[in-house]
Amino acid sequence: MKSREIANKIYYTGVNDRRKDLFENLWPLPGGVSYNSYLIVDDKTALIDTVDVCYADVFLQKVGAALDGRPLDYLVVNHMEPDHSGSIRLLRQLYPQVRIVGNSKTFGMLEGFYGITDGLLEVKEGHTLPLGRHELSFLMAPMVHWPEVMFAYEKLSGTLFSADAFGTYGTLDGGILDEELNMPVIMEEMIRYYANIVGKYGSPVQKAIEKTSALDIRTICPTHGPVWSKHLAEAVGAYDRMSRYEADCGATILYGSMYGYTEQMAEAVAESLAAAGIRNIAMHSMSKSHASYVLKDIFKYRAVVIGSPTYSNRLFPEVESMLHKIETRDVKHRIYGCFGSYTWAGAAVKLLAAFGERMKWDTAGNAVEQKQGMSSSTYEACTELGAAIARRLQQ
Ligand code: FEO
Repeated sequence: MKSREIANKIYYTGVNDRRKDLFENLWPLPGGVSYNSYLIVDDKTALIDTVDVCYADVFLQKVGAALDGRPLDYLVVNHMEPDHSGSIRLLRQLYPQVRIVGNSKTFGMLEGFYGITDGLLEVKEGHTLPLGRHELSFLMAPMVHWPEVMFAYEKLSGTLFSADAFGTYGTLDGGILDEELNMPVIMEEMIRYYANIVGKYGSPVQKAIEKTSALDIRTICPTHGPVWSKHLAEAVGAYDRMSRYEADCGATILYGSMYGYTEQMAEAVAESLAAAGIRNIAMHSMSKSHASYVLKDIFKYRAVVIGSPTYSNRLFPEVESMLHKIETRDVKHRIYGCFGSYTWAGAAVKLLAAFGERMKWDTAGNAVEQKQGMSSSTYEACTELGAAIARRLQQ
């Protein structure tokens, strides 16, 4: 087992997970995910984070290989979510002398999850940890996306160890550095990861970006996905935009439909958007699309159009569940349109309009309500709704 040196005496000791179907038991992982860990070898040795306990054996072999007989002096815990902290207890058993570096919130969780209360070194904002030529300094990054999260900056190499920030889904297939990997695939999975996991915390992400802006950062080592170097500015730029809820010209149309009548309305809105020149149109039938991908598109595109039939005097259940996920993330600054249908008593359109108001989104055009099948006047109304959204997008 070998560990690759990714910078001067900084080794990659992370692992790839191609077994889990769902991240957090919620979000699909068609391309797997990596749990990244890094070891700095100097006068002192310091490991940054561990990995999911399912991969502890491979991980500990990699750490041992990189240490090459040296003791492990420090374990820096930037984030306590178990996909990164899961191997701490086993690591401690193997290296009982290791001092665990974290903040007061880290240590509360360390005791709660693993019963570890001794051999700790508490750090606060701006504290430093000299290792020899390398030196770590610590920046607190609360709510990116847990309260104990902190970043560690290594001055000699200009490396920021950034916990989940700038992370992506997807395993590291052969390469570790960004330039060794397929960037379009990685960037798409970065958006999906952000939308699923970090999305609610735009303001804390902005604060963390601001805090790091004064540092000379040449490499970013997150806990998931590639090490950012050549494409570092792209990764930071994407996080900056997403955390300000900025998005591209385009529309996400999500809808429920039992027998295809509401779906016809979605088709009419999409045709109208396309006819007006909008090229990014993401259509999601909520009976088929996983929320993970719908959220990704909502973070990508500036307009959101939602349709639903009335179901037991409420919304179509899968649409209702999707609205909850959008609201949880407090997605801001979207252009909004809605449409819906009913057979004998309508509720969907009223509920969808209320959703747009709660989100404080910019409603474009008139909501369209259809009774039973599609009439030519309903078709026209859907076309007008699509055209109004396109105009707002193009303003
Ligand atoms: Fe990758 Fe928030 O843990």
